[in-house]
Amino acid sequence: MMKVKVSLLITTLFLALTAHKLAAHGNVTPQGADSSEMQKITDGDESEDGWVFENPYRNLDEETHKKVYEFGESAYSNNCAVCHGLHAQSGGINPDLRLLDPESMEDDEWYVERLRFGSSKGMPALGGIPEGQSEPILDQETLWAIKTYVEARRIVAIEEGEIEVD
Ligand code: HEC
Repeated sequence: MMKVKVSLLITTLFLALTAHKLAAHGNVTPQGADSSEMQKITDGDESEDGWVFENPYRNLDEETHKKVYEFGESAYSNNCAVCHGLHAQSGGINPDLRLLDPESMEDDEWYVERLRFGSSKGMPALGGIPEGQSEPILDQETLWAIKTYVEARRIVAIEEGEIEVD
């Protein structure tokens, strides 16, 4: 009798742990990323920490685009997915990044703004330089690669009717 109870307890515990794991989306704390394989961005605005305000990784040849996409995908899942959803699909609470429109210059500027400065409503300034440091958690090569990944996810989402755009 005791034996049955113990195994039941273990099963319950196991199920609870698995469910917890499934509920967690990607890594919980931002992991950073090594962008050394990405094309360096050197033509940014010096007075804005070297930022460019338009995704420089658009219109790449197919092979380079694939590399940027793949790096962006892993950097996204390690640093953004926990809040913005796996595969860039929001669970509904935080903004769905696939709604950012690459045709609109303002959306790129908004992207930079949010990443450099964050928001008091829970968006961490992952692309900003923390006080007393010289490097951001994520550099702009990483963040534009993430944007490139998100833009590709947007195209799929539009095709599949998962998001509505006008
Ligand atoms: C700890 C949770 C968290 C993490 C991690 C996070 N975000 Fe956010 N993000 C938020 C929240 C919450 C908002 C909404 C902020 C608001 O409305 O003021 C937001 C807003 C944004 C926005 C503005 C979207 C809009 O429609 O206004 C962008 C762009 C963005 N995040 C990009 C990213 C990227 C890229 C990453 C990973 C590098 C990331 N975020 C990581 C929580 C997070």
